[in-house]
Amino acid sequence: MRGIMGQARRKRILLGITGGIAAYKAAELVRLLVKQGFEVQVAMTEAATQFITPTTMQALSGQPVLLNQWQDEAGMTHIHSSRAADAIVIAPATADFIAKLAHGMADDLLSALCLARDCPLLVAPAMNKQMWSNPATQRNVQQLAADGIAVLGPACGSQACGEEGMGRMLEPAELADEIVASFQPKLLTGIKLLMTAGPTYEAIDAVRGITNRSSGKMGYAIAQAAREMGAQVTLVSGPVALTTPVGVERISVNSAQEMYDAVNRRAGDADIFIGVAAVADYRVAHPAEQKIKKSAAPMTLELVANPDILADIASLPNPPFCVGFAAESERLAEYAEQKRRAKKLPLLVGNLAQQAIGSDDNELILFDDNGNHPLPRADKLTLARLLMQHIAQRYKGAKL
Ligand code: C5P
Repeated sequence: MRGIMGQARRKRILLGITGGIAAYKAAELVRLLVKQGFEVQVAMTEAATQFITPTTMQALSGQPVLLNQWQDEAGMTHIHSSRAADAIVIAPATADFIAKLAHGMADDLLSALCLARDCPLLVAPAMNKQMWSNPATQRNVQQLAADGIAVLGPACGSQACGEEGMGRMLEPAELADEIVASFQPKLLTGIKLLMTAGPTYEAIDAVRGITNRSSGKMGYAIAQAAREMGAQVTLVSGPVALTTPVGVERISVNSAQEMYDAVNRRAGDADIFIGVAAVADYRVAHPAEQKIKKSAAPMTLELVANPDILADIASLPNPPFCVGFAAESERLAEYAEQKRRAKKLPLLVGNLAQQAIGSDDNELILFDDNGNHPLPRADKLTLARLLMQHIAQRYKGAKL
């Protein structure tokens, strides 16, 4: 199973469900968290049981559901259960429950658990847009943030009441991502990371172009992993069909030249630069403005070399810590090491093109001055997290 990385034992999440219609989505959240390798125990307020049954939550979590203060003989459920948790997540969190948290109330099991905790608390608000924008709720949410509680969302969109606006709970997959992210070591806090991802598109005429099969998945996973570890991430992306990871600034470009310009404008400010994009080596010398008409005569396209973005950034007088990628179809170690030296990179990540392109899994080998370090085959986000941990260490080592 793909779990969160680097944990000695399974992390325990106490998932608190309060009484809102988004409670039905908590069932999917439990399923996703269990799939990620977390142990999940659910606690529900009385109002939550009006929306979804404890039986459902017990079946999905495989643990008894906590419903009231008096479940253990000593009446200490709030202390025992909060001590056992590595994090408490409230999803959905109603306006009423947020108000209780903001004021330190403890008049039911879930609020008592939160008050008695010595672990991080994450809260996913879900309510009608008017309730969300009410100054009282806004005051309370600010108080939670000031108290060090992570507020996840809400999102904007259609609401169960038929209205449209701010107050929808984040989707279970987004919440699961945020929860996993909260467990990542914050090795890159304060670091500005600039990176490229995806393919480039070199126009031939108004409708045709030269591109490649890069999906952007590896680059987007790296952007997400870096942001989870506290980095400020700017992602210069070629055309891909992927959603931008939460908290990442994305700059969309098409051609290698546009990518080059976007990177150059920001390179002076970056601490780390990672070139993950599959940049086209050549572009069409004279792209036609209109669609070229078909004719029986043979056709020749004149191609000219594109700038090498990574090599140029790495040879700046005061370059950021530069990391490159090499996708090779054969003799990976030899070509990767050659490329690393030619582009003057402290670190180059190699992978076999036929294993990597478009797929969800990958296998990486890291090449640096000390030789090579293979990372085990895994999904791209797991590999991205391991890679970013390695980069964080190497970056800090290089600064000493
Ligand atoms: O294409 P090549 O194998 O040389 O790519 C190796 C690395 O250089 C990759 O990290 C890629 O993003 C980067 N690169 C670049 N600009 C180019 C070609 C490659 O930044 N024009």
